[in-house]
Amino acid sequence: MAAMLKIGFASPTVEKTGTLVLFVGSDLEVSAATRKLIGTAGVGTVKRALSAEKFKGKERAVLVIPAPQGFDVDRLVIVGVGNDDEQEKADYVRLGGVIASTLGSANAAAVLLDGPPKWRTDAEAAADIALGMRLRHYRFDKYKAKKRDANDSDKADHPITVTIHVEDPVAAKRVIRARDAVGTGVELARDLVNEPPNVLDPVEFAKRAKELEKLGVEITILDEKQLTKIGMRALLGVGQGSEKESRVVIMRWNGAKAKKGSKAQPVAFIGKGVVFDTGGISIKPAQGMEDMKGDMAGAACVVGLMHALAARKAKVNVVGAIGLVENMPDGNAQRPGDIVTSLSGQTIEIINTDAEGRLVLGDVLWYVNETYKPSFMIDLATLTGAILIALGQEYAGLFSNDDTLAERLHAAGQATGEGVWRMPLGAAYDKMIDSKFADMKNTGGRFGGSITAAQFLKRFVGDTPWAHLDIAGTAMSSPETDINKSWASGWGVRLLDRLVADYYEDRD
Ligand code: BES
Ligand code: MN
Ligand code: ZN
Repeated sequence: MAAMLKIGFASPTVEKTGTLVLFVGSDLEVSAATRKLIGTAGVGTVKRALSAEKFKGKERAVLVIPAPQGFDVDRLVIVGVGNDDEQEKADYVRLGGVIASTLGSANAAAVLLDGPPKWRTDAEAAADIALGMRLRHYRFDKYKAKKRDANDSDKADHPITVTIHVEDPVAAKRVIRARDAVGTGVELARDLVNEPPNVLDPVEFAKRAKELEKLGVEITILDEKQLTKIGMRALLGVGQGSEKESRVVIMRWNGAKAKKGSKAQPVAFIGKGVVFDTGGISIKPAQGMEDMKGDMAGAACVVGLMHALAARKAKVNVVGAIGLVENMPDGNAQRPGDIVTSLSGQTIEIINTDAEGRLVLGDVLWYVNETYKPSFMIDLATLTGAILIALGQEYAGLFSNDDTLAERLHAAGQATGEGVWRMPLGAAYDKMIDSKFADMKNTGGRFGGSITAAQFLKRFVGDTPWAHLDIAGTAMSSPETDINKSWASGWGVRLLDRLVADYYEDRD
């Protein structure tokens, strides 16, 4: 959804404007640039307001002051940035979200990126603030006939022009291009997850992914005939009770500088795209089943990520692959007790048709590994309810056969606020999915449900470095945060974009 914010950058000379946003640390000092701008009388007004409201400059605390007569602006917004330590570790994206929430009915706002000494005022910080403002303003209301409340900036639909005043606006304008690529990628992922399941079936989802062609992403859509020929029977078994045809979409972005003779090995991202999960014959209870429209959040993240990487022309070769199916009960649906032969040749006994995500991913992981020989594979899936029991909605579960990859994901999580928590894998867990009748079964019982699901996937990745992110808790039914008010969070796009940027792109 297009935000109603128009964000630009300019030098620290601030024009007359509606709302002026300033930053104050816990020492409550007014910075030099701010002093220059609002003058001695202005500083007096601010100081009086700070003390009257007992404002302590705490991180993300906000004070809105209607400007007295004689001021060029209508409102002053003071945003707390905390003490030295907090300033050094500040999350500028999150802060952008906080700022966006203070704009009220303003039509124009100026943000003066200045503050205490430890406070960053560089182009990256400015662009991060802009990204946070934009993500905060995201709404999914295309199916609402009624209009929004114009006096609540969290709901406003009037255009707001924001200017971020920064030392080097030219540099900020350069950095914002990459941030906008990521912002659009997050919004795309949120849109896909929020869409209702009668609109977003596998065919429509594939069509939306195909739009990435405009950015230079190569798209291959495999239909049921091709999937049958390839032998993805585990994936097809999940979709066999649905009227809707299954699809696998392969997205390729080749941004690495071509090296002489050899093509640089790609990295690969794989997403679970169950467009609706009824559970199949092992049908789910009615309560909350509507949430299962979000069971394609892994696939949505991969599409959002491919958008981000292509739009910012990331210098890396990437394969994105998504398995799109609908899990329905039907006279032709898969049964508990069925045995299917996966693409890998390994046979699977279906114990519970509601453990369908692993069946989809097993085939796609195997296919990607064999076809593209990637240097690593990361899959994302709303795979288990058990991960919500283990980690709540704070962290995604991380399972990996490679410590370096796991550590890098952890670092990217810390940097973006999209945190991952590593969970164990091991032979004892693996044994829990051995089957009496086939090579494995698709559930391992109630205990350690997220772990046995990950062990299942591990049987399809060979020796390739691999990480599995169980995002059932982080991608949907999201608690509101400073940068997201929507049901879908778009979780993972910023994390994986950061992972790629920090570790896998060619350097100039
Ligand atoms: N899509 C669900 C997992 C899920 C649950 C996602 C809640 C988001 C929120 C998955 O396909 C599923 O049904 N898993 C089962 C596995 C069980 C049958 C072994 C589960 O978690 O109960
Ligand atoms: Mn299920
Ligand atoms: Zn599912």
